[in-house]
Amino acid sequence: MNNSVRKIGILGTGNAGQTLGTKWAEAGYDVVLGSRNPRQHNDSKLPVKSLKEVAEFGDVIVNTTPGEVSIDVLKKIGEEVINGKIIIDVSVALNEDFTLTYPVESGSEILQQEFPQTKVVKTLCTMTSTIMVEPSILEAPTTVFLSGNDSEAKEITASLLHALGWSPSSQLDLGDISTARAQDHFGKMYFTLTESLGSANFNIKVYTEKK
Ligand SMILES: NC(=O)c1ccc[n+]([C@@H]2O[C@H](COP(=O)([O-])OP(=O)(O)OC[C@H]3O[C@@H](n4cnc5c(N)ncnc54)[C@H](OP(=O)(O)O)[C@@H]3O)[C@@H](O)[C@H]2O)c1
Repeated sequence: MNNSVRKIGILGTGNAGQTLGTKWAEAGYDVVLGSRNPRQHNDSKLPVKSLKEVAEFGDVIVNTTPGEVSIDVLKKIGEEVINGKIIIDVSVALNEDFTLTYPVESGSEILQQEFPQTKVVKTLCTMTSTIMVEPSILEAPTTVFLSGNDSEAKEITASLLHALGWSPSSQLDLGDISTARAQDHFGKMYFTLTESLGSANFNIKVYTEKK
């Protein structure tokens, strides 16, 4: 466990939020999920509070709200709460027909522009939530991508990925937050592969030239 980060505040109580939260809690982190209606989640195994309380709580904020509403969600929470924090963005902003809401820039890039005092790192969005937390169910080690401007935020994100089962050699730093576009645009391939394989339990592996 990364010593500087113990508390993880996850925005969203859906599939990705619950799955990631459960695995990090098992790894020993303090995890709280954020909801618009915390009282509707009395049966949740993880604590659920308001979105603002959860953003205040987290040493790290993990965004698993639908990408198309995430900027509004963070605006409502307020800059005074999120300034200075790391935001790990797992969201992809999609229209109803699964095309990208932001056809050129990534939603994560826009998030970073809207909230310049935060440190946004985009990761995990190129696979289904089962694989996010259980990469070892696949036939061989695969690749998870990171995009972000702040190296310390990426290091902390890397340690949280490690806690999910992603070894350092499985993690590929793509570069600054503008590279999040590539992760969002992989979505087309992801949905096409899901259809052709009849399952979302797959991932890709990037190989480089033999040394
Ligand atoms: N699930 C995956 O396998 C997967 C994989 C890759 C990327 N992602 C990305 O991760 C994000 C979440 O996916 P998901 O599958 O977890 O979605 P989901 O099951 O629909 O959950 C999203 C959660 O966000 C909250 N939410 C919904 N609308 C909201 C709004 N208008 N304002 C504030 N909060 C709202 C809801 O929690 P409350 O009702 O409690 O507020 C909801 O449970 C998406 O952007 C998706 O593209 C998911």
